Amino acid sequence: MDKLSNVESATIEALMQEKRHFEPSKSFTDQANIASKAIYDHGKDYVSFWEEQAAAITWRDQWTSVLDWSNAPFAKWFVDATLNVTESCLDRHLETRGDSVAYHFEGEPGDSRSITYAELLKEVNKLANGLKSLGVEKGDRIAIYMGMVLELPIALLASARLGAVHSVVFGGFSADSLRDRINDAGAKVLITCDEAWRNGNRIPLKSFADAALEQTPSIEKVVVVKRTGADIPMRVERDIYYQDLVCEQSDELNAVKTSSEDPLFILYTSGTTASPKGILHTTGGYLVGAAFTHKNVFDIKDGDIYWCTADIGWVTGHSYVVYGPLANGCTSVIYEGVPNFPDKDRFWAIIEKYKVSQFYTAPTAIRTFMKWGTSYPEAHNLSSLKVIGTVGEPINPEAWMWYQQTIGNASCPVVDTWWQTETGHIMISPLPGITPTKPGSATIPLPGIAVDIFDDHGTSVGLGGGGYLVLTEPWPGMARTIYKDPQRFIEVYWSRFSNSKENKWIYFAGDGAKRDEDGYYWLLGRVDDVMNVSGHRISTLEVESALVDHHSVAEAAVTGRSDLTTGQAIAAFVTLKAGFQGDDALIAELKEHVATKIGKIARPASIVFTDELPKTRSGKIMRRLLQDVAEERKLGDVTTLANADVVHEIAARVHASTTAKTPAPD
Ligand code: PRX
Repeated sequence: MDKLSNVESATIEALMQEKRHFEPSKSFTDQANIASKAIYDHGKDYVSFWEEQAAAITWRDQWTSVLDWSNAPFAKWFVDATLNVTESCLDRHLETRGDSVAYHFEGEPGDSRSITYAELLKEVNKLANGLKSLGVEKGDRIAIYMGMVLELPIALLASARLGAVHSVVFGGFSADSLRDRINDAGAKVLITCDEAWRNGNRIPLKSFADAALEQTPSIEKVVVVKRTGADIPMRVERDIYYQDLVCEQSDELNAVKTSSEDPLFILYTSGTTASPKGILHTTGGYLVGAAFTHKNVFDIKDGDIYWCTADIGWVTGHSYVVYGPLANGCTSVIYEGVPNFPDKDRFWAIIEKYKVSQFYTAPTAIRTFMKWGTSYPEAHNLSSLKVIGTVGEPINPEAWMWYQQTIGNASCPVVDTWWQTETGHIMISPLPGITPTKPGSATIPLPGIAVDIFDDHGTSVGLGGGGYLVLTEPWPGMARTIYKDPQRFIEVYWSRFSNSKENKWIYFAGDGAKRDEDGYYWLLGRVDDVMNVSGHRISTLEVESALVDHHSVAEAAVTGRSDLTTGQAIAAFVTLKAGFQGDDALIAELKEHVATKIGKIARPASIVFTDELPKTRSGKIMRRLLQDVAEERKLGDVTTLANADVVHEIAARVHASTTAKTPAPD
């Protein structure tokens, strides 16, 4: 519990002083999709609850049973049912809302395009037919490495239409990361863009992809969306422009029938050890969970304009830009770029332009907006907003209050939503018409979701206690396995508290949490060695490996330290090989090296050189102590260290470096 108690002492005291709470307004409750608290009781019988929610999507064959948990922790939901998710997301809307807009696309340079449900279905069919002509069949894996353009959701849906499995790799990841993910998934086709617009710059995605493709034997074809129109090398026989592939294709295609448990996608997420984990999600249960939570957490109505700012490269984009909103026939905004292009008011300009009614973003963005000041949102009419949400990391009460007051005009319910890549959909969140909110708390589990907090011994801590967040019953969107590694799935998520002899399976989320006297959940961050930078999990191991990959580095340890803007920032401690000088130039070079190896998001915010790293006698690096050092806290227990002095030396260096200069923002 050491790490957890650290987190607690750093965070929970401030949180627990938070006494403000907000009741839903009567006017909101009166119009809400869910207006009665009875749903919480109803959700206790979670199997029948989720069966009822399944009526909201389109099936071809009904299930023979709702849940098969006999091979736990490998769940089957809606057993034997068949469907194709794109029929729920597209075909069935044609009659009722074929002409309504599915996506308003806003390009970073200022171009825009709106696509209706009828048009979207045609585009999806054309690409699916094109992929079919390239040899894609049910079960094949398709890697997708793109910017946030309309062809990105089209690519996911075309894959799903064929019963193929998509693996989206966030466009900010490096060539090496893309290569590893393509190889793990054994993808047959890659869909990418010539370039992406980002902060006014052109990001050469195809050239990154080309570097990855040097070592990806499974890839047969590469489909390239022209976004900027740059003159890029195309390899004959392997590469084809998207526009050339789809132009001759029919816009009709019968969706391939899939079983409820056929895979829909793989999404890679960082773990503490070894390679990224390919989280595998399947079809029926995932869509039921994404659709229900989207509709009710955001209180979606016909005519609403919904905007989730997440990139589709992350799970939030999968569930709340693509599958949830489309299943609900909702009109969404997709924005390609950064919030400060051309100026720091871009998000607010977009809300005003499209009259956005639901807005979903990350605490790291909210903290950045706070830093930029209220003049930017105040310059725009945000009165269309009805519900505003956050996801990705704990939101501190100040940021929550700022969000509610400045963006939500003190009247929009704020929905702080806790979930993970592995959970597939939102698990803990207010329902805006019925759940009173408290700034900084994700409030209570959604109906149909069973959550608890355990101590080290697996005992529920009761009200007022802190410990490990666990999920005690299966849920429809749960990850089914780690791709090709079911043993690792059991070890990482199900071994900490489960009792397989008694057939009691407990999912350990890896987060610390506290539950207050009202039963409200306060998330405390990760308890393992995974950092959370701007809402994205990055494993210490991957960054360390990238540092050690540099010719000057002997050994490296990294840890997350609190950062007002990004939640956590990466603090690196590096031991150099003999003959190398640890100066500012090398710091800059190492930061760049990590950004190239893994992606900019993993670039360390600070690097401190040290002759030795603090280690236990068995040689395990004590990252917990390094975190104390990085956050300039009183040091924790150093008695288990083989080399206790070194940690004081490092602390002195960190102190000297932070007092000597203000670090330049990255
Ligand atoms: O630590 C929790 C944090 O983000 C982790 C999941 O990261 P990822 O799989 O990348 O998915 C992010 C988007 C769903 C969690 O284990 N986290 C996510 N949402 C919250 C949160 N921490 C506190 N409050 C939240 N609302």
